[in-house]
Amino acid sequence: MSEPGEDKAEKKNHSKPTVRARAKAIKPFVCKNLIAVIEDPSDIKNIGTVIRNVNALGVEKVYIVDPRKALPDDWQDMREKKSLSKTSVSAVKWSFVKRFDNTEDCLDHLERKNFHSIVTSPHVKGMTNVYLHEGEFTEHAKLAVWFGNEKRGISDMAVQRSDMCVAIPMFGMIESLNLGTSSGIVLYEITTQRREYQSKYRKRDKRGKRSNPLPTVLAQEES
Ligand SMILES: C[S@@+](CC[C@H](N)C(=O)[O-])C[C@H]1O[C@@H](n2cnc3c(N)ncnc32)[C@H](O)[C@@H]1O
Repeated sequence: MSEPGEDKAEKKNHSKPTVRARAKAIKPFVCKNLIAVIEDPSDIKNIGTVIRNVNALGVEKVYIVDPRKALPDDWQDMREKKSLSKTSVSAVKWSFVKRFDNTEDCLDHLERKNFHSIVTSPHVKGMTNVYLHEGEFTEHAKLAVWFGNEKRGISDMAVQRSDMCVAIPMFGMIESLNLGTSSGIVLYEITTQRREYQSKYRKRDKRGKRSNPLPTVLAQEES
């Protein structure tokens, strides 16, 4: 005999999508060829937060410039690392992470693969500077968005080899936002723009226009 409410609970369980179904459902919403790069982060909590944001917002990959060699080389080993799994609430299991020994190697790798880089900073960095809400982030099919170290910010080399510097406008007395927080804000704007683009066009330069735009948000699930 079933307990009161059991049928209801059972139905609810059945209606919950499996992990595989969820992975399939989110696939079209992932922003292709969009990479978040964290340059020399020192706090594991921030690394975990960026990976979590990347996964939640549908960024394709995370690259980490890790000169201190704090992380394992291989993504499979990172997935086993308790501190990363904990701070990213397991997002590291689902989002691909690659580490580099230094900024130059990471930029070389990105440029070989025809990625354009943009950096983020609360400061004007002496090149093309835009506020986040004024930026256009669909121009390049392959885009890497760089976030700097908690104390020193973004390096001169990353600035010099990038197309522009993006700032979140600041209205307080403090100089900057936290690294993890700023990644959430910046990547939200960029993924929104790129999902909108992907929903309308199959190819770059506004080619391959779809007759019916794809949805840009996933239907919300009941909890
Ligand atoms: C704590 S901040 C670094 C502060 C550092 N003193 C500096 O000069 O940039 C860490 C990273 O978060 C990002 N960030 C923080 N505030 C930002 C803002 N207002 N606009 C854009 N990025 C920001 C940048 O990537 C920055 O390198």
